[in-house]
Amino acid sequence: MTAPGSGTPVAGSAPPLLSVRSLSVRYGAAQALRNVDLDVYEGEIVTVIGGNGAGKSTTLKTISGVGEMLKHVEGSITFQGTEIRRKPAYRIARMGMAHVPEGRRVFPESSVEENLMLGAYRRKDADIGADLDAIYVRFPILAERRHQQAGLMSGGEQQMLAIGRGLMAKPSFLLLDEPSLGLAPLIVEQVFAAIRRLKAEGLTILLVEQLATKALAVADRAYILETGSVVTSGPASELARDPKVRAAYLGT
Ligand SMILES: Nc1ncnc2c1ncn2[C@@H]1O[C@H](COP(=O)(O)OP(=O)(O)OP(=O)(O)O)[C@@H](O)[C@H]1O
Ligand SMILES: [Mg+2]
Repeated sequence: MTAPGSGTPVAGSAPPLLSVRSLSVRYGAAQALRNVDLDVYEGEIVTVIGGNGAGKSTTLKTISGVGEMLKHVEGSITFQGTEIRRKPAYRIARMGMAHVPEGRRVFPESSVEENLMLGAYRRKDADIGADLDAIYVRFPILAERRHQQAGLMSGGEQQMLAIGRGLMAKPSFLLLDEPSLGLAPLIVEQVFAAIRRLKAEGLTILLVEQLATKALAVADRAYILETGSVVTSGPASELARDPKVRAAYLGT
């Protein structure tokens, strides 16, 4: 047993929100993932860390169903108790999963507000306006820039926009692919502060990062990927102290 709110699964508690088993992915002859097992429990931040090409983005894209048509996938992905491996991305999104992709991928010619509204395009409920207002409270810079072309904003602002667009789908589970990529240290702090706040509000998050120190500081549990395989996993605080992890990923 662990303390409530520690985010560490407790024996006998609810089953994982997301459960990945023996996930293997090939792009043609290139093996991107090999027998990956990974669980995310409700309310946790779980981080996947690893170097360039380790398979981090492939993991997220395979879970959310977006991206390459040419990949060959084996294994099982269960979300909310339902097997989703063969489901199209839009159906997985409708179950409450939102994927904020690597490189933000905002629509550069569209305004900030248009980009945010795209995140809500599957919704038919009456709360969209209120949720848009809530995004503007969460990220005031987006309110200031609401009519500006998204492509003219800084990298950090575009990252806030990409997260805001994901939140406009009203997800229960958020996949974040390298939100800190290419951002100045001060902006990275803002992005991680936003991630902490989302967790405090009860959102479950799967975070992919190369900034291992930051990711381990914010996460409950972590998985380390090397060339497509999970080589280590455990409580983030333990991995942050592990000498091998520190040598390989924390630069100490
Ligand atoms: N569409 C694709 N076609 C062929 N190979 C691909 C494709 N996408 C990824 N790969 C390969 O699969 C492996 C894993 O890539 P992936 O993008 O998942 O890694 P990553 O950990 O996200 O890397 P990065 O830190 O650079 O974002 C790499 O060897 C990559 O070259
Ligand atoms: Mg990647």
